[in-house]
Amino acid sequence: MKLIEGKKIAAEIKLEIAEEVKQIIAKGGKRPHLAAVLVGNDGASETYVNSKVKSCEEVGFKSTLLRFDNTISEADLLKAIDGLNNDADIDGFIVQLPLPKHIDEDKITQAVAPEKDVDGFHPINVGRLVIGLPSFVSATPAGIVELLKRYKIPTQGKHCVVLGRSNIVGKPMSILMAQKSEYANCTVTLCHSRTENLKEITKQADILIAALGIPEYVTEDMVKEGATVIDVGITRVKSDLTKSGWKLKGDVKFDEVAPKCSFITPVPGGVGPMTIVSLMKNTLLAGKGEVYKK
Ligand code: GUN
Repeated sequence: MKLIEGKKIAAEIKLEIAEEVKQIIAKGGKRPHLAAVLVGNDGASETYVNSKVKSCEEVGFKSTLLRFDNTISEADLLKAIDGLNNDADIDGFIVQLPLPKHIDEDKITQAVAPEKDVDGFHPINVGRLVIGLPSFVSATPAGIVELLKRYKIPTQGKHCVVLGRSNIVGKPMSILMAQKSEYANCTVTLCHSRTENLKEITKQADILIAALGIPEYVTEDMVKEGATVIDVGITRVKSDLTKSGWKLKGDVKFDEVAPKCSFITPVPGGVGPMTIVSLMKNTLLAGKGEVYKK
């Protein structure tokens, strides 16, 4: 069994991005600039956004954080998005989800200009991904493909089973793995809460990607000997063993599944760190105008 060290790979990629930024600046180019919109003060969202801002500093990007009270109206939030769409200095921006109940998330996602949508959530980017056009790809699935690539995990003709059909992870993940590409070309099965005979399907997976958000759902009896298991889950559960009083749990029962695998990601330190790095990569692409020509 080989551990897929996302944390280590993410650190390497950050250095690569930082080097590229140095070269851009040395040639008189513009420093990439990412903005993040944070509404309210949800603890987890705040942690994520702070990590994104910190990563910008690490790779040499400029970053702007726009904070709004959770009472902001949808109209005012749309105005702020319009401002970011029209700010020539900002290459890309994200609106941290979830948003308060009175705001329509679909409306907000669709208000972001596709060429600045470094989260890859806009229907134009999702549609472009589906038909194989250059697009911003949702950060977690893009990070997973990068891990498979860097660990040279065979994907050609393999059976990839994705658990979970969210718009942010499961759906784009299944599209990416089925893509006609050197690091994909999988036969893909997308499973969800209504899937029948789930275990029979997961047991056929050469690559099993768990993105359900149910701690320790995937057990040893669901996994084929020699499979690659990618765990996207990061659920906070109460724990007496840590100082903070909680710990992160993946969707996979790591201790019993790991011995059967050829490769497996840990939680934490597996997929998580790759998500932010993919956002940095998308921002770099946006700055360079490589997805939508500037
Ligand atoms: N909330 C949970 N994950 C994400 C993400 O990748 N991007 C944004 N904007 N919000 C999120």
